[in-house]
Amino acid sequence: MTSRLFTVAVSLLVSILALGLVDSLTISVTNGETEGEWGPVDLCPDGSRAVGYQSRNDLNQGIDFTSLNTIRLFCDDVDASNVTSTEGFTGQFGPGRSCAAGEALSAFQLRVQPNGAAADNTAVNSIRFRCTDGIELASAGNQQGTFGTYSDDCLTGICGIQTLVKPEDVSVDNTALNDVHGGNSINAEYNDLSILPSHAKNAEKIYRMKPRSDDVWLLTFPKCGTTWTCELLWLLQNNCDFETASKLGLGMRAPFLEMPYLNSKIQAKREMLMNVDKVEQLPSPRVVRPHTPIHLLPPTLFDIAKVVYVARNPKDVIVSYYFHHKLIKLHGFTGTLEEFAQFFMDDEVYNAPFFTHILEAWSKREHPNMHFMFFEDMKKNLRGEIEKVAAFLGKTLSEDELVKLTEHLKFDNFKTNESVNNEGGKKTGALNQEGNFIRKGKTGDWKNHFSPELNSRIDAWIEKNLAGTDLKFVTELDYQD
Ligand SMILES: *[C@@H]1O[C@H](CO)[C@@H](O)[C@H](O)[C@H]1NC(C)=O
Ligand SMILES: *[C@@H]1O[C@H](CO)[C@@H](O)[C@H](O)[C@H]1NC(C)=O
Repeated sequence: MTSRLFTVAVSLLVSILALGLVDSLTISVTNGETEGEWGPVDLCPDGSRAVGYQSRNDLNQGIDFTSLNTIRLFCDDVDASNVTSTEGFTGQFGPGRSCAAGEALSAFQLRVQPNGAAADNTAVNSIRFRCTDGIELASAGNQQGTFGTYSDDCLTGICGIQTLVKPEDVSVDNTALNDVHGGNSINAEYNDLSILPSHAKNAEKIYRMKPRSDDVWLLTFPKCGTTWTCELLWLLQNNCDFETASKLGLGMRAPFLEMPYLNSKIQAKREMLMNVDKVEQLPSPRVVRPHTPIHLLPPTLFDIAKVVYVARNPKDVIVSYYFHHKLIKLHGFTGTLEEFAQFFMDDEVYNAPFFTHILEAWSKREHPNMHFMFFEDMKKNLRGEIEKVAAFLGKTLSEDELVKLTEHLKFDNFKTNESVNNEGGKKTGALNQEGNFIRKGKTGDWKNHFSPELNSRIDAWIEKNLAGTDLKFVTELDYQD
């Protein structure tokens, strides 16, 4: 029996492990056929992408022109794995085709023969891929039918495949790839990131943002001094314009990028959906502040913009993040600190894992466009740290400005200042009345909260994660502001 008509449906898949749920981000085309059953989502191993493909086609049989039966994607993992989803079995594999070194498959299109006469009702004849550098790979297969439009591009690279295949029908039609989905590699590469599906779906949007040469990007894990440093950077970027700063809340001057993806209730408010767009439209010079880890940020970021990373010891981060979860209603966290600490160590809190986030930045600390700083150093010597960041940004401060900035950023002043302390959230109902967004800002507060047993569990977790690195945390200070 030879192949008759098939339909190829291809979807390439993007998934992110979102708080335990895998959410697939799929790219697809509009001209696939509908018959058959979708096979399994077949993803390249974690950390790898599809960099080439090969297809199995039946030859033109006269009355039966169709032919694509299998699409095999080549992954760039060390084992050079292949993924196929469901395959049709007849025909022969054509030559393998791969993108240039360092590039990956990015988009695809299908050549489909329209639904034909009685016996021949299906139809994908070939698939064509485009690589992340824009180069098209040649397609193999029969020439009948026309190519539809390309799918969306996955700039991070396609990471998997799912095929719609019609079961074998020996009497007339024994083949049948009818449609394809592709997934982008954000998932496969980084699927240990705990974020909500809404964030996963928009990860590509963040990845595609266009950094500007006069931008400062402030990168932090939550509760590591984000708001504090953001205010500092905004004032440095804007010639210490305290007047504008007092009129316009920090959330307007430098919107928190992923805010809309924190909760479905927030997403329901349309204007909140727009933070990435809002940030794209902000006038220069901007401060952009994502919690998204470096590998999911625009790949040109370090070449184009200035980047500041603020790190904080994880013991204080755990305590601070716990109180943050109690304060913010949408987190709805009702557990104990002890339970929260375990969630944190198990990478089950939003934006976890902590160590991936920080170690990735640590490995880039020598980059000329990177300024890596510690929360604890700001507590110890705020003025000295302000001077260092200013020098990194190429800003010269007068003595007056330096004094004023240091005073403004002193914790007790900062905490009571409504331009920056987010207390407005109590009026809108986003925050519970008890607690404060800017809480204590102390180094070593963990000692007031951890039992000896919990503390040694956390010590072991830190030690394990820092093994083989030269990153060291300061967890106590003799003197702090
Ligand atoms: C993947 O496919 C290529 C091309 O057919 C083959 O050479 C290679 O051995 C396959 N790799 C695995 C792990 O099956
Ligand atoms: C609050 O902060 C703004 C800058 O964000 C500043 O202009 C204003 O003077 C501060 N208010 C007080 C009472 O310190």
